[in-house]
Amino acid sequence: SISAVPFLPTAAAGEATLRASFVREEDERPKVPHDRFSDEVPVVSLEGIDGVRRTEIRDRVAAACEDWGIFQVVDHGVDAALVANMARLARDFFALPAEDKLRFDMSGGKKGGFIVSSHLQGEVVQDWREIVTYFSYPVKARDYSRWPDKPGAWRAVVERYSEQLMGLACKLLGVLSEAMGLETDALAKACVDMDQKVVVNFYPRCPQPDLTLGLKRHTDPGTITLLLQDLVGGLQATRDGGRTWITVQPVEGAFVVNLGDHGHLLSNGRFKNADHQAVVNSECSRLSIATFQNPAPDATVYPLAVRDGEAPILEEPITFAEMYRCKMARDIELAKLKKQAK
Ligand code: SIN
Ligand code: FE2
Repeated sequence: SISAVPFLPTAAAGEATLRASFVREEDERPKVPHDRFSDEVPVVSLEGIDGVRRTEIRDRVAAACEDWGIFQVVDHGVDAALVANMARLARDFFALPAEDKLRFDMSGGKKGGFIVSSHLQGEVVQDWREIVTYFSYPVKARDYSRWPDKPGAWRAVVERYSEQLMGLACKLLGVLSEAMGLETDALAKACVDMDQKVVVNFYPRCPQPDLTLGLKRHTDPGTITLLLQDLVGGLQATRDGGRTWITVQPVEGAFVVNLGDHGHLLSNGRFKNADHQAVVNSECSRLSIATFQNPAPDATVYPLAVRDGEAPILEEPITFAEMYRCKMARDIELAKLKKQAK
């Protein structure tokens, strides 16, 4: 069960040994170090996306999604100073005393705010991270009372950051639609009215990083996720059907784009939902900011890009809210929603 006063990893960053609640089973532990970087995940410049380079960008995105469900984008048009500000203020927040952070504690089921450890409630082993979550779109879903008010400028910066990332996400959805062989607006239409949630992850220095994870292995539930990470490294992805792990090379100023379960289903399984995790290290803390772009809760999820001779991989249409509930409750795995392969 979740204790009333959560234990903060930042409070234990200086301890010599890892607390038992963070120790993972051997098969879940990191397979490759946080800083043995691989440059295999494609880095795509978005320069010329509305003109001469659109076809090339579309094809590179399609190939990356077939191979990995992950690519990185640069020349994306998001204001670099805003991004730097966002990251700096986020770090300032996590450096605050525990009581300041816990004013926004959302462990009681509150929407948005500060929480320790896993995004999946009630897990036995905890992730080595602290997070702050903002529900930013639709605008009417914003509950500013759940947006931390320290450091003072952060709320306003989060608002601008959310807006610019929504713009980038819309651009990318257009390209992804075309990469699936659909009309440019197909994915945006399938999302009905896109939701956006910003999750700021702080991974403190860890005494025994080989025994634990910052964020356990998962796929993201939504359409796409735009991940900002610092240059420390720790995001890992799989290839070869999940057998080989690599650490994604951090690229200054880039966003990592992950395709989520929704994006995977829309493509009828042709594009992978990125299988990933975050590892930690004993030298320094790490910050990442994940912006989740999800369909509206009542949007119907159904494969759009079914090619000739293919059968849809979903048995029946399902709402995104239902899909999300199943995943989070984990009483139905995504695989069980799919038709059993013969
Ligand atoms: C995430 O999967 O949401 C975060 C991964 C990371 O921190 O690199
Ligand atoms: Fe993720």
